[in-house]
Amino acid sequence: MSGAQSDFERFREHLSAHGNGGLVHAVAARAAIGNWRAAMCSQDDVRQLLERWGIASAALEPIEHALAAAWNARAAAYAPYSRFHVGAAVLGSCGRLWCGANVENSSYGLTLCAERAALAAARAAGGEAFLLLCVAADTEEPISPCGACRQWIVELAPHALVAMVGSKGAERWCTPAELLPWAFGSEMFHRQL
Ligand code: THU
Repeated sequence: MSGAQSDFERFREHLSAHGNGGLVHAVAARAAIGNWRAAMCSQDDVRQLLERWGIASAALEPIEHALAAAWNARAAAYAPYSRFHVGAAVLGSCGRLWCGANVENSSYGLTLCAERAALAAARAAGGEAFLLLCVAADTEEPISPCGACRQWIVELAPHALVAMVGSKGAERWCTPAELLPWAFGSEMFHRQL
């Protein structure tokens, strides 16, 4: 249980840059539980943890909804070349959700991944404070974002947590900095001016 506890604190600290404290707490809790699931926790353990953290289980609903939305977004994938369907969902601190799926092209290198499609949709719809980015594929082990998507995530959703979800409920949660340490960012070229 102490693993989940420290994950919760670590994630809560990471998310604290954004408002909407209730949602921040819920995302941090859900992330800790998601990571901890790998270590096989029981429903009772989860209930006890939520109680200890002062979080009602109903508060986790927007997060469950976001995870399900990423999974369902796979249906919109245009992937005639790889036939690999990926879905993504981005949750804003306002509680709004935006989805995306991978969009391939006969010129293969122009393919757009689900994560970037979701981030572009979110950003273009006026969203900016993102708490969570979920990516889902029909694989036993959750897939993790490609290098290009990691760069996008670090720039557009630096305070979000990234949730990777596989077909059998396996989850992995981490921060953008864990996905892309030493990331390139505009502060580097601004420094030269
Ligand atoms: N893909 C994604 O959409 N997201 C990822 O995180 C990894 C890969 C897509 C790109 C391409 O359409 C297909 O999966 C196979 O690489």
